[in-house]
Amino acid sequence: MARLLITGGAGFIGSHTCVVLLEAGHDLVVLDDFSNSSPVALERVQELAGRSLELVRGDLRDPVLLEQVFASADAAGAPIEAVIHFAGLKAVGESVAQPLRYWDVNVAGSRALLSTMDAHGCRTLVFSSSATLYGYPETVPIPETAPVQPINPYGHTKASVERMLADLAASAPDAWRIACLRYFNPVGAHPSGRIGEDPNGIPNNLFPFVSQVAIGRRQRLSVFGGDWPTPDGSGVRDYIHVMDLAEGHRAALDALLGDRPQLLTLNLGSGVGASVLEVVRAFEAASGRAVPYEVVDRRPGDAAITVADPSLAAERLGWRTQRSLADMCRDGWAWQSANPQGYQGAS
Ligand code: WQD
Repeated sequence: MARLLITGGAGFIGSHTCVVLLEAGHDLVVLDDFSNSSPVALERVQELAGRSLELVRGDLRDPVLLEQVFASADAAGAPIEAVIHFAGLKAVGESVAQPLRYWDVNVAGSRALLSTMDAHGCRTLVFSSSATLYGYPETVPIPETAPVQPINPYGHTKASVERMLADLAASAPDAWRIACLRYFNPVGAHPSGRIGEDPNGIPNNLFPFVSQVAIGRRQRLSVFGGDWPTPDGSGVRDYIHVMDLAEGHRAALDALLGDRPQLLTLNLGSGVGASVLEVVRAFEAASGRAVPYEVVDRRPGDAAITVADPSLAAERLGWRTQRSLADMCRDGWAWQSANPQGYQGAS
């Protein structure tokens, strides 16, 4: 097994991936500044996995801190062999209002990480990318060969880090092992309900908003558009259970560690679309709670349908999603009902 650095490991995707990696026997060093996550999540990750991890609290953009992380691992005779890079900002609307902050954290932060990795001979990376870089898709389902045409600063930063990684891989093709994983819509929680999605403030995304309506934290859901060219008129997305996504990261890491240097770019999605109204109904069935909603105007920047073509990940990693929308809602409710206020004030 390997010693790994997990940036942003206390976040939604990061924490679920840490459980899977600890259970697989990897040793983890987590770097997180807790700007959009909680230390409680990592306590619970260790409880669930029955194993401990090393925590470094700090900002990815701090070159002195990054150097310290790698140098101390080298000095201890347990060098960092690979990095899974989750740390970043990910709210589309916020990126429009604060572009420089997004370019700094997401792109300058990634560049600082890559420079330190290279200086220490650590040249295996799994990068948390996003389907948002496809913008308005021309074909659905969306293959990895679809044009990269982001429509918001967040998407541009993800596309730019992918570009940086492609240039780095091309500069030393016999050295770098890189996987860019383009997530579609990660939702749900660990089946234990001990860890889950805990967004700051009012949720931008559908699933946590529906979940907070069901638990009584929000009054009603606004459905952004009922006149889309879809079966029931509401937007269609490719929702993927966060545990499937976590297992996809383990599969990508295993593929990189076990094979020649390469640059992999893979969609991680189910290949199945679900509409907003289908998600509402599924969550009501799973929670036994009503989710009142009101159909309002479309949200600027939304597309009607985004669904992945996940065949390349199946071919290259032998990985496919295993869990259904009902599983996502059941596990998401297990988290929300056990943690009505998320990690805040948790024991
Ligand atoms: C899903 C559907 C909305 C909220 C975004 C990012 C993407 C990724 C996932 C990071 C759409 C509708 C939503 C609400 C609604 N994040 N909706 N009412 O926009 O597909 O993707 O999150 O990588 O990068 O772009 O996800 O959950 O915001 O929306 O009707 O209150 O739900 O219109 O059809 P999206 P979402």
